[in-house]
Amino acid sequence: MSNSAVMASAERANVGGTTATSGVYTDSAVRLFALAAVVWGVVGMLVGVIIAAQLTWPELNLGIPWLSYGRLRPLHTNAVIFAFGGCALMATSFHVVQRTCQTRLFAPGLAMFVFWGWQLVIVAAAVTLPLGMTQGKEYAELEWPIDLLIAVVWVAYAVVFFGTIGIRKVRHIYVANWFFGAFIIAVALLHIVNSAAIPVSLTKSYSAYAGVQDAMIQWWYGHNAVGFFLTAGFLGMMYYYIPKQAERPVYSYRLSIVHFWALIFTYMWAGPHHLHYTALPDWAQSVGMVFSLVLLAPSWGGMINGIMTLSGAWHKLRDDPILKFLIVSLSFYGMSTFEGPMMSIKTVNALSHYTDWTIGHVHSGALGWVGLISMGSLYYLIPRMYGRTTMFSVRAIELHFWIATIGIVLYIAAMWIAGVMQGLMWRAVNPDGTLVYTFVESVKATFPYYVVRLLGGVLYFSGMLIMAWNVVMTVKSGKAEASPIPVPAPAHA
Ligand code: HEM
Ligand code: HEM
Repeated sequence: MSNSAVMASAERANVGGTTATSGVYTDSAVRLFALAAVVWGVVGMLVGVIIAAQLTWPELNLGIPWLSYGRLRPLHTNAVIFAFGGCALMATSFHVVQRTCQTRLFAPGLAMFVFWGWQLVIVAAAVTLPLGMTQGKEYAELEWPIDLLIAVVWVAYAVVFFGTIGIRKVRHIYVANWFFGAFIIAVALLHIVNSAAIPVSLTKSYSAYAGVQDAMIQWWYGHNAVGFFLTAGFLGMMYYYIPKQAERPVYSYRLSIVHFWALIFTYMWAGPHHLHYTALPDWAQSVGMVFSLVLLAPSWGGMINGIMTLSGAWHKLRDDPILKFLIVSLSFYGMSTFEGPMMSIKTVNALSHYTDWTIGHVHSGALGWVGLISMGSLYYLIPRMYGRTTMFSVRAIELHFWIATIGIVLYIAAMWIAGVMQGLMWRAVNPDGTLVYTFVESVKATFPYYVVRLLGGVLYFSGMLIMAWNVVMTVKSGKAEASPIPVPAPAHA
């Protein structure tokens, strides 16, 4: 089937065609998740701004333990990844799977359970992390009772998503669903394996693994959290919302399939690049490095497929701010997936590791890719959930885009310069072998860059506030109406 035929048959509904309907989509969970994503985006980014300020002026800890940097930092990462990113992924996956399967959600009641269960996880995280309860594993800090709740909610999510695929009315499974499906399966596997722990009380447990095995499992998890939580699901968004907003079929459907298999196969082996020059056997570090270098190819294949979807419609970028969000997110995706493989080369990592270069890399992926693609997709989705075709203010979307983009550039440029400077200062030695700089000198030299990063963060956060206002006005001026499911067209080759 040609790529345009696939997109068209997967969604004759919204592109035009038949007017006959067969019931309505079940979008209550989509609406709630979309609104929650905006709320948690504001909260998570506010905490990001606070910790950026604390790194600049440590007195802002105020001497209060639960406001200390070490406790707020995991609150930030959990809030932006799992609350903001997670809710955006759940909203869009439930939206996309219904439209591309031309059917309502399987078990809508269970979808509401997924929503409330996930909010409970978020609230439990927001309470326990500032109290200092943690397993001490990055991105897997939450203690065992919350981990169990996550597992239950995730299984319910999988049942709703794959159940909907099971009752689909079109034969083909559109590629966006492949990416969402891989995200759901891989995250279940990662979470269950990495969170295995022996509880000693309700609020404390110890990892089931020890030593370097623990480290390897943690970074197998950590890197695939990047690959599947922060990438695969968002590629699902890319494959649906870019063609929809650009009103063009995906550039190459064949490439999207190659992209899918190559990406999910390669990501699984790249984790050891987080453990260069550690007790992990050298051969395992080299395997991690080689797979990270290979990962450049599928990542760029996917990026090119997304960007080229605009071919013949480049002019739309000029005055469509939603497309700007979606396409610029892909440029940041390309940038961070070029930088990542370079940083995985051992000799480069010897300079970048422990420095703010890593933080710059993280946020070019997080603010540039994850943030912008989510915002663009939500700007497409939210008005349609409230019986409108556009947001309340299109000019506010444009303003948000520019403020966010300038914020990202300030953030990541400051961190790159600071990171390379720190790495060079730490390794500089005098002819007699003593260090040229003390550690504190490198901290002092970093100060101005922390101020610039804070400014970038404040801009990015302000953009999010504009979005929140625009969403409130859109919801107020719209109406949550069920949209009809079109009758699927007869199957064709
Ligand atoms: C207003 C926006 C944001 C600001 C000001 C901000 C600020 C920060 C700061 C100061 C840190 C700690 C850096 C360090 O330890 O040296 C951090 C860490 C982190 N942030 Fe953000 N952030 C923002 C948005 C986001 C978003 C939207 C995401 C993800 C979608 C994200 C993901 C992360 C991650 C994964 C880390 C941990 C990085 C690592 O351990 O290497 N941030 N952020
Ligand atoms: C081809 C793709 C990528 C490769 C090969 C890659 C590679 C790397 C490497 C080598 C590091 C530094 C490890 C260290 O020195 O500790 C790193 C850190 C990180 N990357 Fe990437 N990266 C890729 C894409 C991305 C993307 C798209 C994102 C975000 C959406 C991302 C998020 C992160 C995070 C959060 C960390 C910090 C982990 C931590 O120490 O807490 N990466 N990545």
